[in-house]
Amino acid sequence: MQFQQEFEEVDASWVRRMYEQVDEEELAAGRRALLSGSVGGELPLMVMKARGASLWDKEGREYIDCTSQAWTLNVGACHPKVMAAVREQLSYFTHVRTSFETVPKLLLAKRLAELAPGDLERVTFSLHGSSAIEGAMKLALRHYPDRRFFLVPWDNFNGRTLATMSLSYPHPWPFLQYSGYSVRVPQGYCYRCAYELSYPSCELFCVKMMGKFIENAIDGKPVAFIMEPIQGSGGMIDFPKPYYQAVRELCNKYDMLLIFDEMQTGFGRCGTMFASELYETVPDILVFGKAIGGGFPLAGSISRPHVAGFKPADHSFTFAHFPVSMVAALATLRVLEEEKLLERAQELNRFFRARLAELQDRYEMIGDVRGPGLMIGVELVRSRKTKEPAREESYQFEKEALKRGVLFGTAKYAGMGNVVKIKPPLVITDAQAERVMEVFEEVLEVVSCRQAQPA
Ligand SMILES: Cc1ncc(COP(=O)(O)O)c(C=O)c1O
Repeated sequence: MQFQQEFEEVDASWVRRMYEQVDEEELAAGRRALLSGSVGGELPLMVMKARGASLWDKEGREYIDCTSQAWTLNVGACHPKVMAAVREQLSYFTHVRTSFETVPKLLLAKRLAELAPGDLERVTFSLHGSSAIEGAMKLALRHYPDRRFFLVPWDNFNGRTLATMSLSYPHPWPFLQYSGYSVRVPQGYCYRCAYELSYPSCELFCVKMMGKFIENAIDGKPVAFIMEPIQGSGGMIDFPKPYYQAVRELCNKYDMLLIFDEMQTGFGRCGTMFASELYETVPDILVFGKAIGGGFPLAGSISRPHVAGFKPADHSFTFAHFPVSMVAALATLRVLEEEKLLERAQELNRFFRARLAELQDRYEMIGDVRGPGLMIGVELVRSRKTKEPAREESYQFEKEALKRGVLFGTAKYAGMGNVVKIKPPLVITDAQAERVMEVFEEVLEVVSCRQAQPA
C-alpha cells in the first residue's frame, strides 16, 4: 500500500497532455520513423481510448470493435476488474526473472491445469503466441528427437517468427532459409474441398489422405500435426466435428503428437473455455495466448504428462513470466466465469447466425456462414454457383463498415481473402450487436450494388 501512495503522488500528467495536445507534426515524424512490418496499416484509425467493445479515434468518434484487437479482448477493453487487479499487482512489483517463483505464476499455472480438458496439465508461459508455438515445437522435438518435420494443414497460421513462419501459410521466403520445414496437407475446408468431395459422403477423405502423405514421406514420421481448431487467419474455417476426432486417431495411429493452436479459439471465444472441449478432442499440446491476458501480453502451452518436458534453459525468455500479465490473466479467468461470458458467446452466436441466415436468403454474395461462439466467418462470393471469391468486395466491405463506425476484420493474407470476420469482445451489448448487423446489411447492400454495376 505504501508503494501505491508513493507512485500516486508522482506527477504523470504529461501522459494526459500527450493525448490531449497531440502535435500533428510530431506524429508525422513518428510515422516516418516507424519501420513497422505489420499488417492492417491500410485502415486509417488512431485509437485514443477503448472500453468494452468500443473504441474512440482522435476526433472522438466511437467504433464498435468486431475484431477484439486480434482476439485479445474477450473480456472487452479495460475491463474494470482486470484493471483493478493490475493496479494492485503494480503496488507489489512489476517484473522478476523467470528463475524466481511468484505467487501469480504458480496460481495461474494451477488454474490453467484445472481448466484444460482431459489430462492436459503441464503449463509453460511466454509473452507472445509465436514463442509459445515455438515452445510447443521444442517440446515435440524433445519428445521425438530424431524426427524432422511437422505436418500442417493448408492455410494454417501459427505466427511470424522464423520457425513459426515455416508452419504458416506461404509467404515467408526468404526467411525459410533460416527455419525448419513442414509438409502441408489439404485441410477439411468443406465449402471448398480440395478433393472436390462433399461432407459427409466423403467420409473424411482428407484425413485418410493425410495418412498417405505420412506413409509416403521420404524422411520418416512427422514430429506432430499442428493445427488451429478453427483457421482464423486462413478464413475462419471450422471443420466437421468428426474431423477433429479423426485427426486425433490419425496421430495415435502414426505415433505422432497432436498440437492445437488455441491462440484465437481459447478462453470463451467459441462458447467453451477451449475449442478442444467443443470438439471433444484432447491434443497432446494445447497452445494458448491472446485473450488470456485480458489485454496484457501472455501466451504459453499446456501439455499432457506423457509429453517429454524441457531441459533446463530450453525455453527461457526475459519477460516470459511477466507477473503483471499473470495477474491480469487470473482476473480475466474470474471475469469469464463471474459474468458467464461463455454462455453469452453462445447466445450471441445464435443472434448473429440467425440474422446472417436471413441476409443469406436475400444476398447472393453471402456464400457461407460458419463458426461457433463469437468466431463467425462470412465468406463472400461473386456467385454462389461458381463460388468466385469476392476478394476486392471484402476489402471494400471493411472500409465501408469503418466509415459507419464498425470495425470488421477480413482474412486477407491467407485463403481466398474473402471472409469477413465477426469476432467482437464477448461483452458486446445487445444494442451494439444490433448495430453491427444493421451496418453489416447496409454495407452488403452497397458492395452488392457496386458489384452489379457494369465496369
Ligand atoms: C492462431 C495464431 N497462432 C499464433 C499467433 C502468433 O501470436 P503472436 O502474434 O502473439 O506471436 C497468432 C497471431 O495472430 C495466431 O492468430
